[in-house]
Amino acid sequence: MSAVLNSTDGTKGCVEREDAATSGCHDEFDDNFEPGLFLCRDYVCYEFSFDQYGVKQRLMSLPSKQTDYDLTGQIIWPASHTMCYMILANSHLFNSRRVLELGAGAGLPGLLATRFAKEVVLTDGQEEIIPLLNLNATTYAYTEQRTERGSSTGSPSRSTSSAAPRPPCAVHVLPLQWGYKTAVKAVRPLQPKSFDVVMGSDIVFWPEAIRPLLETIEYFLSANGVAIISYINRCDLVHRQFFDMLADFGFIAEHVCMSTFLPEHFPVSPHAYLLKITRRVGVSPRPKIGKKGSLKQNRSIDGIASYANRQISNSGRHRMGLE
Ligand SMILES: C[S@@+](CC[C@H](N)C(=O)[O-])C[C@H]1O[C@@H](n2cnc3c(N)ncnc32)[C@H](O)[C@@H]1O
Repeated sequence: MSAVLNSTDGTKGCVEREDAATSGCHDEFDDNFEPGLFLCRDYVCYEFSFDQYGVKQRLMSLPSKQTDYDLTGQIIWPASHTMCYMILANSHLFNSRRVLELGAGAGLPGLLATRFAKEVVLTDGQEEIIPLLNLNATTYAYTEQRTERGSSTGSPSRSTSSAAPRPPCAVHVLPLQWGYKTAVKAVRPLQPKSFDVVMGSDIVFWPEAIRPLLETIEYFLSANGVAIISYINRCDLVHRQFFDMLADFGFIAEHVCMSTFLPEHFPVSPHAYLLKITRRVGVSPRPKIGKKGSLKQNRSIDGIASYANRQISNSGRHRMGLE
């Protein structure tokens, strides 16, 4: 049997191949499988302008239509735009602070935070994303001289005679899969382990990833720290599970009103959420970690269905006024 291949330069080639079903050589195909053939690394430089703050941020990522289902971090998600405006409008939260970004993907919010923070650690659990994050951190993190007093207008303040200069933000990239054990292992090189701000955009999606995500936040968030999570509610069950577990972990979640800082006519999904998460006073951290604590990449419908069943039996529970 023969197949005609069309290459991108318009040439055509003819390949002889046996019918796989009759040749019995599936195993050999597997052994010689080259995943790189299917991996797109044709990153493009994008520039995001946050005009009312006079800020532009460049980075490399893929155009959305080119990413693989498992490599969602190669593209920039709308929830990260919301997060960026929140950072610019609340730069005091980041000024001279240690910031950890979870599920950073290409790292847009984290890169923006390098204008204000003392240290930013960009992390992602997908190993293919790490070289992209490294590239963006090396090339596009903010490296200009800043002053001790950050400006609240979004731009790092320029040197004045009264303000002491401070060094550019230290930026690190680490592979970090959510979950207590994996997080502990991933951050061995880091000192100290606690962060003033833990943030992530579009990182609330699979039901089985909620607990490991919260374990990670719980592990890294300093006693008076704030976690900022921006996401689109794509599944009400996951959304409710997130809020239930936030309460179980002893966190308080407040909705941040986006209209106060987003530009007029900025397209926001009606399902967009931006949450400010803090520890409830007096709650001892670290809930027990069971088997669920380890990360599983099981995305089956069954996971969602079994969660639905639990929700039905839990239907009387308080949901932090979310409905
Ligand atoms: C939808 S993308 C969002 C990327 C980026 N934050 C943005 O908003 O553009 C989700 C990101 O979370 C990462 N991720 C998914 N599951 C993860 C896990 N269990 N541990 C760590 N990272 C994970 C993915 O690799 C991906 O980069």
